[in-house]
Amino acid sequence: MTDTPRRRPGGPTRRQLLLGGAVAGVGAAAAVGADALTRPGERPAADPAPEPLAGAGTVPFHGAHQAGVATAPQAHVSLVALDLLDGTDRDALRRLMQLLSDDAARLTQGVAALADSEPELAVVPAHLTVTFGFGPELVRRAATGSDAAPSWLRPLPPFTIDRLDPAWSDGDLLLQIASDDPMTVAHAQRMLLKDTRSFATVRWTQAGFRRARGSEASGTTMRNLFGQIDGTVNLEPGTPDFEDLVWVRDGWLAGGTSLVLRRIHMDLDKWDRLDRGGREQSVGRYLSNGAPLTGTHEHDEPDFTATSRIGFPVIPEFSHMRRARSEDTSQRIFRRGYNYDDAPSGDRVSSSGLLFVSYQADVDAQFVPLQRRLDELDLLNEWTTPVGSAVFAIPPGCAEGGYVGETILA
Ligand code: HEM
Repeated sequence: MTDTPRRRPGGPTRRQLLLGGAVAGVGAAAAVGADALTRPGERPAADPAPEPLAGAGTVPFHGAHQAGVATAPQAHVSLVALDLLDGTDRDALRRLMQLLSDDAARLTQGVAALADSEPELAVVPAHLTVTFGFGPELVRRAATGSDAAPSWLRPLPPFTIDRLDPAWSDGDLLLQIASDDPMTVAHAQRMLLKDTRSFATVRWTQAGFRRARGSEASGTTMRNLFGQIDGTVNLEPGTPDFEDLVWVRDGWLAGGTSLVLRRIHMDLDKWDRLDRGGREQSVGRYLSNGAPLTGTHEHDEPDFTATSRIGFPVIPEFSHMRRARSEDTSQRIFRRGYNYDDAPSGDRVSSSGLLFVSYQADVDAQFVPLQRRLDELDLLNEWTTPVGSAVFAIPPGCAEGGYVGETILA
């Protein structure tokens, strides 16, 4: 597609173009203004370097793994779960995944979807990624044998802290759409849902956010809506631990992973009544910079043996950090969650929480024991309640011309 410059209403005048020789009217006008303000004898300031646009950033769609797992978390996400229609059989699933993969590949590169009704909205990918997840029913329909589904691909066992609402739980097909621009997420979601129309219906959508791109140095650990730095101790993409503990090794899922979603309500109204000391004790870290209560910097190693003058552990035994840590290093997971903020109801001023998202090679071996420990005891449980839960298999990525899911559907 070529883009012939034409004078648009409000665009640069012939005079501005002649004076500034600039690309855009604003640039030309600014240059004219700067000249006018320069005092005699002063040299005009050099034109500032053009601002690099975050919106132009792309993440490759094709590859051994699907994008959106090891990708640095974008600012916005939409998680969409679909229920398959009765008639969506194996052949239909193949067509669906071909369509979806093709459009996702385009959109993530800033190219309009095949039948894009608003192609102008596709040109700002802002690091868009689309990650597909398969629920138990999709894998059952896709499989030719009975042993295709990994044993962990089912709803999590019940936990006593759960107050699950089916409206936020389960699903057959997951779309995880993430970008630094919320318009891009909305557009990509609509284009992809158009593809699914004759195969499935939307079960739920859950939108999440982190700080806007550029408002903090990239790589800064996110804060959740309790104000805590959340994500300090985590598997790190590119490390051998990440390779071992996140990606599945065998079968059609080799190069894929699993996604656990827990929609966790955070009672901010109740949290408001807890003092700062109590808040820090509940996790075992300082709110200011996320350092453990026995340290000074975010990434300092906590000292669980340290005691106060009167003999109590400095990091409480039931603090979230302590309970979430296992001596068994194979029980680690990769957390990549987002905040959510809904409309409050009644006399409350918030209805917020965490879209807790974790990836691990084996849900039963890694996530479940961890969630069991937190279910038994975790100071944070006083202020948090899981209200939604879902498990998906995330198939491996595909090469150009291929499609996500081909390892089970081809
Ligand atoms: C709304 C609910 C939750 C909140 C507000 C929360 C918050 C936090 C915070 C502030 C930390 C300390 C900083 C860090 O290392 O990231 C942390 C650590 C951690 N959380 Fe959570 N979390 C929640 C739910 C969960 C759940 C459901 C799990 C897993 C089942 C989990 C697993 C972990 C793990 C593994 C760590 C690192 C522990 C370590 O230091 O080794 N969290 N969380």
